[in-house]
Amino acid sequence: MMMNVVVTGAGGFVGRELVRKLLAAGHHVTGIDTHESGIPEGARAIAGDFGDAAVRANALAGGCDALVHLATVPGGAAEADPAASRRINVDAMYDLLLEAGVINPGLRVVYASSIAVLGDPLPALVDDATPLSPKMIYGGHKAMMEHAVAMFSNRGLIDGVTVRLPGILARPKGPSGMKSAFMSDLFHALKAGETFTCPVSAAGTIWAQSVRRCAENFMHALTLDCALLPPARAVTLPAQRLTMGDLAAEIARQCGVSPELVTYAPDAALEAAFAAQPPLYTPAALRAGFAHDGDPATLVANALSSI
Ligand SMILES: NC(=O)c1ccc[n+]([C@@H]2O[C@H](COP(=O)([O-])OP(=O)(O)OC[C@H]3O[C@@H](n4cnc5c(N)ncnc54)[C@H](O)[C@@H]3O)[C@@H](O)[C@H]2O)c1
Repeated sequence: MMMNVVVTGAGGFVGRELVRKLLAAGHHVTGIDTHESGIPEGARAIAGDFGDAAVRANALAGGCDALVHLATVPGGAAEADPAASRRINVDAMYDLLLEAGVINPGLRVVYASSIAVLGDPLPALVDDATPLSPKMIYGGHKAMMEHAVAMFSNRGLIDGVTVRLPGILARPKGPSGMKSAFMSDLFHALKAGETFTCPVSAAGTIWAQSVRRCAENFMHALTLDCALLPPARAVTLPAQRLTMGDLAAEIARQCGVSPELVTYAPDAALEAAFAAQPPLYTPAALRAGFAHDGDPATLVANALSSI
């Protein structure tokens, strides 16, 4: 069934991939982003700050059967400017949920949360019972808004689905404000046959998913039966757990270059926050029909195809 889907952050890394998929599936898409340039052709593009009520009203005026909320002040930027994170990641999102729910009560909302809600250090294993214990401003604000999605769903204002994303690969080169961007930078370096100094150790473990698989999970979230979700409406997406050394070896193999191009100079804070991920079990997400890429070779091939 064709839907009018409003996507915030439509010009971003995940947003572009998702908008292309939505358009290909025959949906009408309204994309909001700070700049129009990144929003894929074919979408109704709204350029501006979604913290501005007029921008939100303009976007919703085209009709909204479903809302995918991706726009965010990312982790590094939120840590540097907590007030900006509060304004965008909390207050503006809260307003957007209220306004969308008034225009179309009970509409499907898919919210991109993050494994940052779990905090660090993580316990010996993470599963659906692991409590949220964020440390970064970004993760704290994401956790707060997971509760807002659940509360507004319980009140019938929206029909919310929160998906917690692991490291998504491989984002475009260049500054992103994301502290985890080194994972993607590894892909760019090896694809170009260049050396790379990895800021976490070879034995450091990450949870990862390709952007292609991630967009497919968002497509699924738009229509899934919410009775399959836990009461809090939030799931940690399935992800593959692999070491940076194994990831580098597989990228190098597929790019036909030597894994010796990568040297390791671990930064303790980055290692603790992004490369000390224990075994991950996500039965709630699997039950609801979400998936990871399958195996490391497919993850790497999917990620390479996006850069
Ligand atoms: N990429 C990852 O590895 C990852 C991991 C965990 C969670 N997430 C979450 O997934 C979502 C999408 O991530 P991404 O990697 O595509 O991020 P991104 O930074 O590439 O894209 C976000 C987009 O939102 C836009 N945006 C930010 N603030 C805005 C504002 N006030 N008004 C309008 N547009 C604004 C940005 O211009 C950007 O294009 C985010 O909510 C992020 O927190 C991503």
